[in-house]
Amino acid sequence: MHFKVYDLVDTGDDRGGLIPFEMGMNVPFEVARAFYIFNTRPGTARGSHANRNSEFLFVVISGSCNVKIDNGVEQSVITLNRPNQALWLDKKVWKEMYDFSYNAILLVLSNEKYDEKEYIRDYGDYQRILSADVFSGKVADASS
Ligand code: TYD
Repeated sequence: MHFKVYDLVDTGDDRGGLIPFEMGMNVPFEVARAFYIFNTRPGTARGSHANRNSEFLFVVISGSCNVKIDNGVEQSVITLNRPNQALWLDKKVWKEMYDFSYNAILLVLSNEKYDEKEYIRDYGDYQRILSADVFSGKVADASS
C-alpha cells in the first residue's frame, strides 16, 4: 500500500468542526514539518517529485485539488475536496498536485523536516532508484 485515503476524526460539536492531528490520531506519524499551499495560480501543477524518506499527509482544508500518484508501476488520481478527508502518501511515491480551485488550501504534514537532498525531481532518476531497491531486495517488485 503506497497511499491511503481516509476520513479524519472530527472532534467538533454543534459549534462546528475541529480536526486535531496527533501521532496516532488522524496522522500515522510524528509530525516534523507542516506547510500549506494556497493562492495557486490557475493551471499550475506542483510537486512532480518523490521523496526518499518523507511520508506525507495531504488535507485540502478549503476548496479542491487533484493529486496524481505514481509508485513506478501504478498511477492513481485522487480528488481532495473535503476538509475531513486525508490522503496519506508513503515515501518514494511520485506525486503531482493540480486542478487547484481558486480557494484551495492544501495542508501538508510530513514525518521529515525539509531537506532538498531527499527530493527526487527527475522521473528517470526515480525509476532507477526504484529498480535499485528491487535489485537490492529493499522492496518487493510491485510489477511481478
Ligand atoms: P517546491 O519543492 O518547489 O514545492 P512543490 O513541491 O509544492 O512544488 O518548494 C518551493 C520552495 O519552498 C523551495 O524554495 C523550497 C521551499 N520549501 C521549504 O523551505 N520547505 C518545505 O517544506 C517545502 C515543501 C518547500
